[in-house]
Amino acid sequence: MTTKIRVVTSLSDAEIQRLGEMLVAVVEAGASVGYLPPLDASVAQQYWRGVCKPEVLLLLAEVDGEIAGTVQLELATKANARHRAEVNRLLVDPKYQRQGLGRVLMEALESEAKVLGRTLLHLDTREGDTSNDFYRSQGWTEAGMIPMWARSSGGSLDGTVFYYKVLE
Ligand SMILES: CC(C)(COP(=O)(O)OP(=O)(O)OC[C@H]1O[C@@H](n2cnc3c(N)ncnc32)[C@H](O)[C@@H]1OP(=O)(O)O)[C@@H](O)C(=O)NCCC(=O)NCCS
Repeated sequence: MTTKIRVVTSLSDAEIQRLGEMLVAVVEAGASVGYLPPLDASVAQQYWRGVCKPEVLLLLAEVDGEIAGTVQLELATKANARHRAEVNRLLVDPKYQRQGLGRVLMEALESEAKVLGRTLLHLDTREGDTSNDFYRSQGWTEAGMIPMWARSSGGSLDGTVFYYKVLE
């Protein structure tokens, strides 16, 4: 198994299609990433068409040539926040999960962040999800929780937990 991480500034139609499939798969598997199931493939692709922007660093993880994971770093643009960035949409295709890909993606993202002088990273994730275990295992610190943040597929309003990491 060969894993490759790429930073991309644009996406081909084939990459958009594959990323769309992956977004649908993680939403169907129950992840809270902004969409509710059932997620239409065309809506998922539309999302990826709008992702590449100057303030967003997009990383793709490929396993044996197939896109298997992705993550984004959104660079804060305010004059007093150029040391800060938000981690968004960390997704590993369900069939590749628990094989170390999330860890590799986050390590690559942190290296890129450091190069860009972004030394404070932050993110949030749904309370109770296994993603909390993932972020804690990668050295992230919990900052607090906001209740009733996002609707779940079952109709309830779930809390979100905020995390941060200071890069040395
Ligand atoms: C969260 C996510 C990105 C983790 O990616 P992954 O490639 O499966 O994670 P890794 O294999 O790199 O796991 C690294 C460590 O994180 C922890 N971890 C990961 N998944 C876990 C789980 N389901 N339960 C408990 N701990 C977990 C473990 O400590 C693991 O190390 P180990 O396998 O040696 O025990 C992935 O599950 C995912 O895409 N989930 C759906 C989308 C999502 O929720 N994204 C986050 C939104 S903010």
